[in-house]
Order: sequence, then C-alpha cells, then structure tokens
Amino acid sequence: MRLAAVVLAAGKGTRMKSGLPKVLHRVCGRPMVEHVLLAVRKIGVQKTVLVVGHQGDLVAELVGDKAETAYQAEQLGTAHALLQCRDALKNFNGDIMVVCGDTPLLRHQTLSQLHTEHSRSGSAATVLTAVLNDPAGYGRVIRNTAGGIMKIVEQKDAAPAELAVSEINTGVYCFKAEGLFEALSEIRSDNAQGEYYLTDIIEYYIARGESVGAVIAGDAAEVMGINDRCQLAVAEKVLRRRILDRLMMSGVAVMDPASTFIDDTVHIGADSIIYPFTFIEGKSKIGENCTIGPSSRLFNATLGCRVNVQNSVIVESRVADGCNIGPFAYIRPGCVLEKDAKVGDFVELKNSRLGEGSKVPHLSYVGDAEVGRGSNIGAGTITCNYDGENKWRTKIGEHAFIGSNTNLVAPVVVGDGSITGAGSTITKDVPPGALGVARDKQRNIEGWAKRKKISVKID
Ligand code: UD1
Ligand code: CA
Repeated sequence: MRLAAVVLAAGKGTRMKSGLPKVLHRVCGRPMVEHVLLAVRKIGVQKTVLVVGHQGDLVAELVGDKAETAYQAEQLGTAHALLQCRDALKNFNGDIMVVCGDTPLLRHQTLSQLHTEHSRSGSAATVLTAVLNDPAGYGRVIRNTAGGIMKIVEQKDAAPAELAVSEINTGVYCFKAEGLFEALSEIRSDNAQGEYYLTDIIEYYIARGESVGAVIAGDAAEVMGINDRCQLAVAEKVLRRRILDRLMMSGVAVMDPASTFIDDTVHIGADSIIYPFTFIEGKSKIGENCTIGPSSRLFNATLGCRVNVQNSVIVESRVADGCNIGPFAYIRPGCVLEKDAKVGDFVELKNSRLGEGSKVPHLSYVGDAEVGRGSNIGAGTITCNYDGENKWRTKIGEHAFIGSNTNLVAPVVVGDGSITGAGSTITKDVPPGALGVARDKQRNIEGWAKRKKISVKID
C-alpha cells in the first residue's frame, strides 16, 4: 500500500519557555523533528509533508528539499494542522501516517509495525497507543467493554475515571487517505483548550460506522512526547544510552556510559576507547584504535586511526593517524595535523597546519601558521599573528627547530632546516639552514650580588 507521512511541527512549544521552536530543540545533537523525519524515511514512505507554522522558515530550513512543507498560519490544534496538508496530499491515495514532531524516541520498527497492522485490519484509522506508569499530560485511550477503542480524551477534558486510564495516545496514527480531509473539516473546537483536536477523529469515525483500531507499543519509553525541558532531559538520557549501546555493539569501548556524551551524528571506529567525561559532538568522525578522554570535547573533529586525545578540546579540525594530543591542548577551528604529529600540554592551535611528525610539545600558541614535516616547536613559542588590525601567517619549513620562548612576529618565514635561538623575537625571515637569533648578549657582572647583599633564602 502506498504510504505518505505527515509530521506535525507547527507548534510553538509554549511549555519549553524558549525563543526556539520546540521541535528544533536538540536531542543528542539532532533537532527532535529530525529524529522523527529519519524514522519516517526509514519505513519507505513515498512522500513526507512537514507542517510548519511558528517560526516556520527556521523549521522548514531543516528539511530542505527532502520533504514538502505545509504552512499552518495559526496553531489551532493538531486536526487543523493536518488539514493544512490537504493540497499537498490532494492526489495521494493510499495510507497517511501522522507523527508528532516532538516524539524523537520513536523507532522506525514501531512505525512499520503500526502500518502493517493498519493494512492488515483495513481500518479507516489505527492509533499507536502505550501503557504508561505515569500517563499524566497525555490523551487517554478510552475503550468499550469489548476492548475496542471508543475515543481519545485529552487530559484537560478528562473526567476523573478517564484520568485513571493508563493507556495513552502516542500521537502517531495511520489513516486511509480517502475521506480523511473531509472528516477533519468536520471536527469542532468545543473543548477545554478551544483547539481542533486530531484525536476527535476517532469518535467521529466510529459514529459513522468506520472501523478504528489501536496498536499498543511494546516499548513505552519510545513514545514519549517532549513538552518541557525536564522531558527533554529524560529523552536525551534515553537516546544517549541507545547511541552508546549501538557504538559498543559495533566494537567501541565506552568505559563509563553514565559520563559519556556522544551525538547521534558521530561515527567511531572499532577498538577505540572512550574514557569518562568525554563529549563527542556534531559531525565528528573517529577512526579505529583511538583513545579519547578522559575529560575531552570533540566538535566536528575528524580523527584518523590510533589517535590519542587526553583532557583536550578539538573543534572543527582534522587529525591524521597516530597523532598525540594533550593533556590540556586546545585545538581551535581550521587546524590540520598530519600523521604522527604531536600537540602537547597547554598548547593552543588555531587555523594552522602541522606537518607529518612535527611537534609542539608544550606551552605554546600557534595561530595562522604552516609548519612543514619533522619540525619541533620549543616550549613557550608564540606566533604573534595579530597586529591589532589584521591576522598574519607564520611559515615554518621542514625539519626546523624553533628554540624555546621564540616569538614569531608574523608575517614571517622560517626556512627548511633552520633554527631560532631560544628567547628570540623573530621579525625577519630566517633563510633555510640558518640560525635566527634576536636577543641581547649576556653580560655577567662579577660580585654584584654580594655587594648588594642579596642572598636567596630557602627554607
Ligand atoms: C498530543 C495529543 C495527545 C497525545 C500527545 C502525544 C492532540 C489533541 N493531543 O497532545 O492526545 O497524547 O500529543 O505526545 O492531538 N502541532 C501543530 N499545530 C498545532 C498544534 C500542534 O503542528 O496547532 C504540533 C506540535 O508542533 C507538536 C504536535 O503537533 O509537534 C503535538 O502538539 P502538542 O501541543 O505537543 O500536543 P500534546 O498536548 O502533547
Ligand atoms: Ca506533545
């Protein structure tokens, strides 16, 4: 049977108390509506329509040309939201699955199961329900004595006996396209919230002798709808564990899942070890046999194999095989570390390239620099890249040796195989194979300390 999906994402999400539309709040690195769209895509729908409204442009941007959007100018309720897809689905005959944009934990397997049951039964509508220990906030599923579904009652409209029901509406439904929009246009808003409730379609269909079914989700944790930030935190925790389980099953060692935070968008190769208190975010990609952490943060970082990162931060940079980073390194955007390079303790690197096997072992700032292979940057080296107005580049050749505490005043070039004297402030290019030294000669004044009666006490 042909299948289209509608994702409802027009609401403001008042309960989030946020300037950002609710469905764009992130769960493990992805906006929650993106999780829903991914699940929907996996069940092989022919067409997806995303209903946007509140800050609709921002939400629509997310799907680009991957889905059509329908615009709901005023958020008058979920039935009204679905009605806005009438044009987009005008010529569609088949089934229409409706999913809320605020249920990011739903798995595609569950959606498939709902569709299979809907097709099998031939019902006009099939609702995905769940039985919860704490049903508060959800619409309740009211069944007749024979166990058939009769209606869905919203929390705010429910009588005490109805509130005691623990079976809830997940907000996911399958409908026959035929007759759906006619039915929706009949729904009224005479309820506690003055909204057009999609849930009312159940009663409407039953009253007209249409058959309506319900499928109970096996995993109640999956169906959670996010309305506020407390629920967002719960969802984050559930999804985080799911991501870590997937990584562990694929061969990644996660020493302490409780203190490891990895986005859904991250890839990690087998036999890599993630130590505690580590965040791996965005489009980060890590090869095999790496050791990451403890206490590290990677954001949009691409690492090869056998890379060690300890107590460090890497942002928007590429690190090749065999590199060693940290402890306490800060690699800022735009860096490229070639094979076997080292960035050691208390080093900041920005928009710089470190050639194969080159080392910045300690206490340095290297910004807007190009370092050839096999070079060593001594402790305390600073690239003076900023003159207060412009940023300038420093170029260091291959197999160069930058003495400790060198200031490299950019723009400046240090040639292949050359050396700078420790403590030099290099303002002119150093030719290949030369020594660049720029510091005062040392004088010793005999007897000076004794005359001044200066003595050093150590206790
Ligand atoms: C809804 C269901 C409730 C169910 C719960 C599951 C209704 C009336 N109630 O309640 O039975 O238990 O979901 O999580 O459907 N939206 C629009 N336009 C609107 C209103 C909402 O696009 O005018 C979108 C929202 O962006 C959201 C989704 O629909 O993604 C659900 O809306 P929300 O207000 O969160 O509904 P609930 O009160 O949670
Ligand atoms: Ca909701």
